[in-house]
Amino acid sequence: MSILVTGGTGYIGSHTCVELIKENYDVIIVDNLYNSSKEALNRINTITGVMPKFYEIDLLDKDKLNIIFEENNIEAVIHFAGYKAVGESCSIPLTYYQNNITTTLNLCEVMKSYNCKKIVFSSSATVYGDPASVPIDESFPLSTTNPYGTTKMFNERILEDLYISDNEFSVILLRYFNPIGAHNSGLIGETPNGIPNNLVPYIAQVATGKRDFLRVWGNDYNTVDGTGVRDYIHVVDLALGHIKAVKYAMNHLGVEKINLGTGNGYSVLQVKDAYAKASGKDIAFEIMDRRPGDIATCYADTKKAKELLGWQAEFDIETMCNDSWNFEVKNPDGVK
Ligand code: WQD
Repeated sequence: MSILVTGGTGYIGSHTCVELIKENYDVIIVDNLYNSSKEALNRINTITGVMPKFYEIDLLDKDKLNIIFEENNIEAVIHFAGYKAVGESCSIPLTYYQNNITTTLNLCEVMKSYNCKKIVFSSSATVYGDPASVPIDESFPLSTTNPYGTTKMFNERILEDLYISDNEFSVILLRYFNPIGAHNSGLIGETPNGIPNNLVPYIAQVATGKRDFLRVWGNDYNTVDGTGVRDYIHVVDLALGHIKAVKYAMNHLGVEKINLGTGNGYSVLQVKDAYAKASGKDIAFEIMDRRPGDIATCYADTKKAKELLGWQAEFDIETMCNDSWNFEVKNPDGVK
């Protein structure tokens, strides 16, 4: 029996495949390599000693997706594949809806036709929008503020309705907070396309000298130092959360929405200082106006993941920055 990982050569996908293989799961990766490289397969092999079976297929191609299920006995799916840039989604919303929704619909239809009824879905804390309070628990209302987040919310709803129509399904919706860091081997990590949208990849490029200074998007929020506060979680902690979610899905039916965060919030300037310490580099910065769509504070209530999955994040912000810097130094151009 195999686990199919869509988007498995990507940042979170590749880290999850490493942990799945370490747990002796048979892993099959499908990816169209739009936002990743086949080199990730070699890195997974180097870390684990196992070269995962790989299909270079776009999930928009339903006929080719059928072949994967025809050729393999797939017990469960972890669905990472999708476009994920918040800013880009605002400028090309139709592309985001077309890709992120149709790929999920194709996957669900093919899974159902092959009686594969266990899915772990890569959702995001962005579905909560600007929360009325923090920490955020899974009962909070959803209110997205950009097309990317809305595709996550729509996909959650599609999967919920799939379960309602067929109670033999197990659906786990994992809501990630802010994934950062890299495997401690330095062999896999985050490879942003072009100018990084997210904080830590941008800070990493300031530390390597690729960028002159960090633009801090606003310091007039009602937070510890006026800059945005987020719940940064080590990507390996996130990957381990997926292992627990797969094991839970194997023994339960129904739909569960689960936050994957640390429950701790750090400001932009606190992360900058942690990265400066990890890299030994001065991180120059300038305070700019707020970024449209940004919220002040966001961090997780982590009780449900601990009670239901027996999972909690273990790595601290210093380790996240150390592992990110280690990857950055060893891969100045990312995993290409
Ligand atoms: C974090 C903080 C910025 C860059 C988004 C998505 C979320 C997930 C992670 C995919 C904010 C500040 C950032 C910079 C800055 N992505 N910042 N200068 O916006 O919390 O979440 O990415 O799943 O779904 O919504 O992450 O890293 O972009 O920003 O000051 O150059 O850093 O204002 O306060 P965000 P981020």
